Amino acid sequence: MNKSFNPVILEQFGAIIGKVHSFSFPKRQGATSEVIFLHTDNGQFVCKVAQTSLYREWLLEEARIMKHWNEETNLPIPTFYQFVENNDESYLLMSLENGIPLREALLKVESDKERYDLLECFGALLKQLHETKPPTSWVTKESWLDEQLEKATYNLQNYDVDGDQPLLDNLKRHKPVPFEQTLIHGDCTIDNILVSNGRVRTFIDLAGSAFGDPRYDIALAIRSIRNNEKMLNAFYKGYGLRTITKEEFDYFDGGLYEFF
Ligand SMILES: Nc1ncnc2c1ncn2[C@@H]1O[C@H](COP(=O)(O)OP(=O)(O)O)[C@@H](O)[C@H]1O
Ligand SMILES: [Mg+2]
Repeated sequence: MNKSFNPVILEQFGAIIGKVHSFSFPKRQGATSEVIFLHTDNGQFVCKVAQTSLYREWLLEEARIMKHWNEETNLPIPTFYQFVENNDESYLLMSLENGIPLREALLKVESDKERYDLLECFGALLKQLHETKPPTSWVTKESWLDEQLEKATYNLQNYDVDGDQPLLDNLKRHKPVPFEQTLIHGDCTIDNILVSNGRVRTFIDLAGSAFGDPRYDIALAIRSIRNNEKMLNAFYKGYGLRTITKEEFDYFDGGLYEFF
C-alpha cells in the first residue's frame, strides 16, 4: 500500500472525524493491515485498513471485539468508532492511543532498570487481562484450543501460512493438558502493546481476543525475551499467576502460532 491519503476514508468517516488536517503512519506497520493516524477537526483517530479476505475477516472480528470490550470491561484498549467495507477493502476507525509499541520502547530505554520495569509492567497488564471477568456471552465450556486447531486446518487449506501438515498433525496429537480458560488477547506480542510515560498501558490489535488458553498469551509475550533470564524474570514478577514450561512455549509459539 502506498503512503498517500486514501480518499475513501473521508467518504466513509467524514461525519465522525470532520476535516482532516494531516495524516501520518506508525514507524512500523503490522503484518495484516495498513494503519493511518488521522489528525482532524474532531481529534486524533486511527484508521486500520485491510485488503485480503482473511485479513478483512480479522478486521471485522477486531471491530466486534473492541466494541464488546468497550461496553463490558474496563480494559485499556482503543475506543471503537466504526467499521465499514467496500468491494476492495475494509476499514476500522478507532481512537488514537498515546504511546509506542513495547518493542520500540524496549529499544529506546537507557538502562537495564528501565527495561526490567517495562517488562514487569507488561506482565502486570497481562495479569489484569487474564483476571478480568469475561463478558457473560463469551464464557463457554467449548475448548478454545480445539477451535483454534480447526481454524488452523482451514487456514492451512485455504491460505498461505507458515505451518505445514506434519506440524498440524503433531499439534492435534500432542495437545497440552487442558487449562482453565480466561479472557485472552490472542496475539500478545510486544508489537501489540503500547507504552507511554514509561508504563505499559494499552492493548491493541485485538482480532484474536477470546475466552481461551492464557498460556498462548504468555508464550507470545515472552517469545522475544525468553533467552534473557533477567528480562523473563521481570515479566513473570509482574505477571505472577503462573509460568509456562518449554513444551508449552513450543506448542504455542513455534506451533499453533504458525497457522495464524
Ligand atoms: N489505536 C492505536 N493507537 C496508536 N497506535 C496504533 C493504534 N492502532 C495501531 N497502532 C499502531 O499501528 C501499528 C500496527 O497496528 P496493528 O493493529 O498492530 O496492525 P496489524 O494487525 O497489521 O499488526 C501498531 O504497532 C501501532 O504502532
Ligand atoms: Mg499488530
